[in-house]
Amino acid sequence: MKKQERKRTVVVAICGATGVVYGIRLLKALLARPVEVYLVVSRAGAAVLRHEADYDGGPFDDYLRRQGVEFHWDARLYHHDVNDLFAPPASGSFRHDGMVIAPCSMKTLGAVASGIADSLIHRAADVCLKERRPLVLMTRETPLNLIHLKNMQRTLLAGATIMPPCPGFYTRPESLMDIVDGTVARTLDQLDIDNDLTKRWGDKDLV
Ligand SMILES: Cc1cc2nc3c(=O)[nH]c(=O)nc-3n(C[C@H](O)[C@H](O)[C@H](O)COP(=O)(O)O)c2cc1C
Repeated sequence: MKKQERKRTVVVAICGATGVVYGIRLLKALLARPVEVYLVVSRAGAAVLRHEADYDGGPFDDYLRRQGVEFHWDARLYHHDVNDLFAPPASGSFRHDGMVIAPCSMKTLGAVASGIADSLIHRAADVCLKERRPLVLMTRETPLNLIHLKNMQRTLLAGATIMPPCPGFYTRPESLMDIVDGTVARTLDQLDIDNDLTKRWGDKDLV
């Protein structure tokens, strides 16, 4: 029998880098289980969601349902405005299991690396670092300049996980979503959240 899963609380941010599909697939995987998700979308993130993924600016839960997200009966989604510094993830006294920024732009990376906390995304990430909670940055840019690399180094040294979406092909993905879900699976692993989104090395049919 599968052991009872503990209800997790995760902060998810979507920034204005290309690849917002990573954020959507992460939300799909999270909301399929008993979870509380605190979601923050930057202004640029909303613009890229419109451009790449048919976001209409309406309520986010309706949008996610149209994107094929099925909510577990015990899943809760709280969507906070990016300027709402009164939202729970802005405070260290709000307990959660970690934050993922997917995708994470170089601007947001720079803000986190510099400790500039003037939006809910930057502040929530800053709080994760000071509270020693998992912070996964799905940084998306290529090629990288020295400033990007130094900012990655600074955030890594401060405790973040730098997780650019670099697909593995040893699982023999058959579709674009298999490739995206491969990265989402590794991201959930970082938060110690059970998932079988992709095959694992050591699985009988893989090796
Ligand atoms: C369609 C589109 C794609 C973009 N892709 C990237 C990207 O992959 N990486 C990046 O760092 N910035 C990218 N940008 C630029 C960011 O959106 C911009 O720097 C913005 O200020 C980021 O703000 P945010 O971090 O608050 O979301 C893109 C912009 C647009 C319009």
